[in-house]
Amino acid sequence: MSDFEAVLARVAERVTPTAAERDRLREAVDELTERVRDAVADLPVDARIVQVGSTARGTWLADDRDIDLFVCLPPDLDRAELERYGLAVGRAALPDGHEEYAEHPYVAGEVRGFDVDLVPCYDVADATAIRSAVDRTPFHDAYLQERLDPDLARDVRLFKAFLSGIGAYGSDLRTRGFSGYLAELLVLASDGFEPLVRAAADWHPPVRLDPADHGTTTFDDPLVVVDPTDPERNVAAVCAAENVARLQHYARELLADPREDLFVPTEADPLDPAAVREHLDRRGTTPVAVVFDAPALVDDQLYPQLRKSLDGIVGELDRRGFAPLRSTTVADDRAVLLVELAVDELPTIRRHRGPPVHVREHATGFYEAYADADVYGPFLDADRYVVERDREYTTPRALLGDDAIFDVALGAHVETALEEGYDLLAGDDVAELADEFGVAFARYFEPTP
Ligand code: UTP
Ligand code: MN
Repeated sequence: MSDFEAVLARVAERVTPTAAERDRLREAVDELTERVRDAVADLPVDARIVQVGSTARGTWLADDRDIDLFVCLPPDLDRAELERYGLAVGRAALPDGHEEYAEHPYVAGEVRGFDVDLVPCYDVADATAIRSAVDRTPFHDAYLQERLDPDLARDVRLFKAFLSGIGAYGSDLRTRGFSGYLAELLVLASDGFEPLVRAAADWHPPVRLDPADHGTTTFDDPLVVVDPTDPERNVAAVCAAENVARLQHYARELLADPREDLFVPTEADPLDPAAVREHLDRRGTTPVAVVFDAPALVDDQLYPQLRKSLDGIVGELDRRGFAPLRSTTVADDRAVLLVELAVDELPTIRRHRGPPVHVREHATGFYEAYADADVYGPFLDADRYVVERDREYTTPRALLGDDAIFDVALGAHVETALEEGYDLLAGDDVAELADEFGVAFARYFEPTP
């Protein structure tokens, strides 16, 4: 057995659910199905109950299991009826559950220690006739069930464990990585974990896979896996370029030096303020941080808004000449937009270039606008008019502490939160945030792929 195979064997041993776990799961599913069947009997319409997701396919990771049960209702119901029936079944089957919201509300809860999602969907004839995004799921399940065998299921678990270990597992909008379904399709397309890792190590994105060979649409994503149940959907649509690159990097690492720790997620050791100050000292950069109460949103809504706000602020700092070097955002009770700049302070004046003199109308307009203004010039630089005039902000602090911050495109809830008030930290003061965000600072100042 090669080193590579030996490592895989040990990982497989660790992440494969035991017979006892599989039995407990089966009992929980049986009990839940029974309860759902009773609840459905009280509805004025028929419904099909389908178990989906990794626990239906035997591709879940040991100790990381959720039961996904779908209640497929007649497609002629309108949305309101679907929601009402779905919630009625959910509340009856999971009396201690709570409502969650995806494209429509559903009930999540627990049965015998297993997390359960009980999701209503439309029972459509095929995945192209879906009326809501979750209607696809039973088709995903049927597609995979038909093609996975126990060897491939083991390899799916290995790939999911690997993606978890390198921090690329999950299609939530904070991670923007690989979903479980995507992981299964990739293993299937390569016919195993090892060939997939070898292929990924040599990918040249954009990579396009079309397992059912029926794609009709082009996508502008680094990784495209055309959904075998829907030719117009890219299963990897949320997978960020960084996570595709991350998979490639660690695939090479695994092949070069096979080891189990690549399959185990690690949390960085938090940095304390003194360690952050040391880094800042060594780097000689200018950090600024906008700190505010995190809007009360789920991560799937919060992180896109934080990233949009960070992009807006970084873009504005860049246009204003402060040369952003790197930036990050993180949230707990408070949220932080951190930007590290190469420029601490700019001179009072800035150069403002006008049109070429020979473009008579524009040039005259420029000249007249500035002729009597409090500026240097207009003077000539080669064939153009130029003035040197006062700049609006000479430091990043001045820019971010002023209303200019509201001129950039911010996430809606971030904008509201900032309007309520925010702290602006600069230089060494930023290090104090390490008390609250030590792990995020460790990731930032001790970065790895
Ligand atoms: P899960 O997120 O529970 O994924 O969604 P999973 O395949 O069971 O994997 P793990 O082991 O729990 O992480 C259940 C099903 O919902 C659909 C897929 O068909 C998936 O198998 N789904 C979920 C999507 O199509 N897209 C998503 O982003 C999430
Ligand atoms: Mn699942």
